[in-house]
Amino acid sequence: MESLDITGWSGPFGEAEQARAVECLEVGKVLAFPALRFPLDEAEQGVIRLAGTDGSAKNISLDPATGECKGSTLTGDDRIRLAAVLERFARSAMGLILGLMPFYQPGLTRGRTSFRPVEIAGRQSSWRQDDKRLHVDAFPTRPLRGQRILRLFANIDHDGVPRYWRVGPDFESYATQFLPGLRPSIPGQARLLRMLGLTKAMRSRYDEVMLHLHDAAKRDMEWQGRAGAVDVDFPAGSAWAVFTDQVPHAALSGRNALEQTFYIDPHVLARPGTAPLAVLERLCGQAMV
Ligand code: SIN
Ligand code: FE
Repeated sequence: MESLDITGWSGPFGEAEQARAVECLEVGKVLAFPALRFPLDEAEQGVIRLAGTDGSAKNISLDPATGECKGSTLTGDDRIRLAAVLERFARSAMGLILGLMPFYQPGLTRGRTSFRPVEIAGRQSSWRQDDKRLHVDAFPTRPLRGQRILRLFANIDHDGVPRYWRVGPDFESYATQFLPGLRPSIPGQARLLRMLGLTKAMRSRYDEVMLHLHDAAKRDMEWQGRAGAVDVDFPAGSAWAVFTDQVPHAALSGRNALEQTFYIDPHVLARPGTAPLAVLERLCGQAMV
């Protein structure tokens, strides 16, 4: 983990800060912003305190395509106010990422914004959904074909509760651990999933491998215990960014976080050779998209 001592969401940031940010993120570290608070005014604080999940999903999320806010118990004006908080966070997050990595701009797509009110510790879920186990992110319905997943989190807990994660090991060791269990592609499967509308695009071999790496790690409790991950904590009033497709992570406890997802085209990366696609293609000796 590395830290940047910035206090504001929009630049201009210095050249040294920009260089450190991109290097840290692309080699697979968590970039923490210990002094970067996402401020909420009293009305926003009120709606955030009211918002609970309706149980349909882990989180409350704002879809950038429709502007729709899903998964909360709120209705009417309260729901509109919550969507406005998420939209303001999304814009702040975008300002921060583009302020630090302006060259990402032509290859950056804004994904969902989420609010994660529920305490993680003690939450019951299936092993595949259980983010208390180390994993890299991969989405069953959204094939990425080598696009990166960059996520920015802010801990906005009003009672000062930190968010605890474990992170590590490095992506190459993680992949080396689980690639031997990888099965060959099932002919026709990607096309069928696409035709049935179960995926939003054709799954590439890259997506199959990433889903395997996600599942195989979460299933292997023996490895979870000896993976060599380190504990990190993110205090309330701080933020952090990480390529979650590259950095094995587990969220152990905490509540009330905001999160913004970005998809980054590999062509705009400063060090494309460190990306999961490049590492997997090297390890497997084959093209994957
Ligand atoms: C995850 O991406 O696995 C969960 C992260 C979090 O909610 O802190
Ligand atoms: Fe995750």
